[in-house]
Amino acid sequence: MQTVTTLEMLRNAVSGLRGGGGTIALVPTMGALHDGHLTLVREAKRRADHVAVSIFVNPTQFGEGEDLDAYPRQLAEDSAMLEAEGVDLLWAPTVEAMYPRGFASSISVDGVSSDFCGADRPGHFEGVATVVCKLFNQVLPDMALFGEKDWQQLAVIRRMARDLDLSRPLAEDILGIPTVREPDGLAMSSRNRYLSPQLRATAAALPNAMKLAIAEMEARGDAATSLATLERVLRESGFDSVDYAALADADSLQRLERTGDRPARLLVAARIGGTRLIDNMAVKAAD
Ligand code: PAF
Repeated sequence: MQTVTTLEMLRNAVSGLRGGGGTIALVPTMGALHDGHLTLVREAKRRADHVAVSIFVNPTQFGEGEDLDAYPRQLAEDSAMLEAEGVDLLWAPTVEAMYPRGFASSISVDGVSSDFCGADRPGHFEGVATVVCKLFNQVLPDMALFGEKDWQQLAVIRRMARDLDLSRPLAEDILGIPTVREPDGLAMSSRNRYLSPQLRATAAALPNAMKLAIAEMEARGDAATSLATLERVLRESGFDSVDYAALADADSLQRLERTGDRPARLLVAARIGGTRLIDNMAVKAAD
């Protein structure tokens, strides 16, 4: 595996891979890799001839008072994991390489980014869209893979790719890979390591309460009662607060009061011991 830290090194490495022919898949990450990321890497290897992974803790997607400084950084460990997976290229830029002095541009994606995490974390999706657009332009991959755990992020990135006519990758080659879960159902996340063993055990209430709410919504069609129950169950289980719990159209992310013909998603963000956890699951229409 080749590790590159400057744009010039990256361009040489990418043209080296391209020179050998074949396709390139990009897996953008912020590091602190877990099995969820490795699933993306394995899927990328299955689908493309070469795999590039980026590791960059992007400061512009963290708001004031968020966990930018505390965010786990473990490049040597991550690099060993990627090497073992047979990744071809690791792009690990510094903040200065990504945002040189004078950097002044930002991509804002309206609509899909305005509610949910976009409302709770002002500027977050501008930071994500801008850095992902840069990563796409730097690596020019044939496809890019993201975890469905960040459902809204995936919708924002796809919208951006469509709106800006990106060609590497095309919007349809931005692939969402199903969330990888711990044995107790908690979605894998680099932030799970902030939880004490006791809070980590409590956190499993999130996917469990979501599954119950979905079963109820799928049976009744109506969302409001199930969402209210879900919030109550989370608080009673030990969560401090619920930022949002909503049924939404899977593509537009418009809130829905009822299940319908179109694919829908239950989206939740909740806080436990100072850690904000997000999750989402598919909801079928009522029979
Ligand atoms: O999901 C993440 O890890 C980040 O938001 C991403 C897509 C790598 C952009 O910094």
